[in-house]
Amino acid sequence: MARLTINGRTQEIDVDPNTPLLWAIREQVGLTGTKYGCGIAQCGACTVHIDGVATRSCSFPVSGAVGKQITTIEGLAANGTLHKVQKAWLDHDVPQCGYCQSGMIMAVAALLKEKPKPSDADIDAAITNICRCGTYQQVRAAIHAAANA
Ligand code: FES
Ligand code: FES
Repeated sequence: MARLTINGRTQEIDVDPNTPLLWAIREQVGLTGTKYGCGIAQCGACTVHIDGVATRSCSFPVSGAVGKQITTIEGLAANGTLHKVQKAWLDHDVPQCGYCQSGMIMAVAALLKEKPKPSDADIDAAITNICRCGTYQQVRAAIHAAANA
C-alpha cells in the first residue's frame, strides 16, 4: 500500500512501492490524461509534477512520491480556470494527435514557474519532450505567449 496525494486528494493505493508512478496514476487511480510513450524517461509523455518539479512518472517509483504533492494534467486547472499554458495551447492550436501534449504542458508549466520569461535556449534545454507530430514551433510560440500572458 502507498499513501499518495494526487491533485490535492490523498488516497491509499494498493500497489507495490517499486511500481512506476505512471501506472499507479493510470491504473489504480484512473487518471488517464498522463500518457505512456517510451517507458524509459526519454519522451516526456508521462510528465507530472512532484512538489512542483516536472518528473517523468514512467521511471519514478511510487515510493518516491509518498508524502509529496503530485499534480497531473487533470489537476493543472485551478478551480475550473485553465492554467495560462493550457490557454496558450488553445490559442495557438498546438496539439495535433494530442498524445504527447499533456506531458508537454506539464513540462512547460514547471518551466514557467521556475523561469517566468524563458529564452529560446531555456526552452530548448528544459523542454526535451518528443512530439511525433512535430508541433515544436507551435509549442515554442505558445510558451512565449504564456510567458507574456
Ligand atoms: S513514457 Fe515516460 S518518458 Fe516516455
Ligand atoms: S501532437 Fe501528436 S505526438 Fe505530439
